[in-house]
Amino acid sequence: MTGWILYIDRVKNSPHVNYSVRRMVESAQDNGVNLRVIHPDQLELVVGGPGAAVLVDGKPEALPDFVMPRLGSRTSPFGMAAIRHFEGLGVCCVNGSAGVAVAKDKMATMQVLAAAGIAVPRSLLLKFPADAELVERAIGFPAVVKLLSGSQGSGVLLAKEKKEFADIMGLVEGVRPGANLLAQQFVASSSGTDLRVMVVGRKAVAAARRSSSSSFKANLSQGEGGQVEAYPLDPALEELALRITRAVGLEVAGIDLLFGPEGFLVCEVNSSPGFRVIELSAGLDLPQILFDHIRQSLGPAHKTGAEHA
Ligand SMILES: Nc1ncnc2c1ncn2[C@@H]1O[C@H](COP(=O)(O)OP(=O)(O)O)[C@@H](O)[C@H]1O
Ligand SMILES: [Mg+2]
Repeated sequence: MTGWILYIDRVKNSPHVNYSVRRMVESAQDNGVNLRVIHPDQLELVVGGPGAAVLVDGKPEALPDFVMPRLGSRTSPFGMAAIRHFEGLGVCCVNGSAGVAVAKDKMATMQVLAAAGIAVPRSLLLKFPADAELVERAIGFPAVVKLLSGSQGSGVLLAKEKKEFADIMGLVEGVRPGANLLAQQFVASSSGTDLRVMVVGRKAVAAARRSSSSSFKANLSQGEGGQVEAYPLDPALEELALRITRAVGLEVAGIDLLFGPEGFLVCEVNSSPGFRVIELSAGLDLPQILFDHIRQSLGPAHKTGAEHA
């Protein structure tokens, strides 16, 4: 089985700095996978007429059996076009473009989940100049302010009261007019904790409770005071995670849930979830689980040598 991971980060020309990508690259051979990590900039996408539809570094390439986009919230219009291109060519994409597009946009995620009857924190898409009075009426303070496309907590902050919110908006408007922001109900009962559930195919494979002692944001690295512990999966939690994954249109998802006073509220859904938290807390081998899932989706022609024998 051949696969391409679409991935952006590079440090000194090594694309393997990211824990999850490195784990997949290291595990590929043992799982019978010929895996390449490809930066979207290496791709040329060609539509119509004879000749290759995909060039890598300017040269025609045979298409892989699967493509795994790991661009997450940084999926550019080109990255999105690449995923759509592979889908159009019949390449198995895990995840596909529709789900990646929803997951990379926190407003779109809240919209599809609310439409599916799944509980989300009350959220307001902000316009400029931002109306602090309106936010006070619609959401209340403290309110969480977040970039529509952020990750690892960098675009998320807490505005404790109306004046602080107005100050933040003044700064944002000066620095980045037209920024895409959401004001969101602060789920105080979950402050500093959240629940990450990892879904692969039609199964929730593990859950981990993340917490931080130094911030309302639970997704801090260990060095910043973040902690992780395994959390039991029960049928109700698994059912919720699968409903969320289906509503967003993903196959593989990292779901962040907040502990609300009356049950879980969905914080966000990640289309290229990191493996570290789940592997360390649940002792799972996620590359193996993912490769097995992809092999199953591809069908019998892609069994490993051992399975053929
Ligand atoms: N509405 C909220 N109420 C309480 N905590 C929140 C809320 N939204 C986010 N958080 C906290 O902030 C963290 C980061 O927010 P999230 O939306 O997941 O952004 P990121 O894309 O950076 O992961 C979450 O893991 C959670 O701990
Ligand atoms: Mg998150």
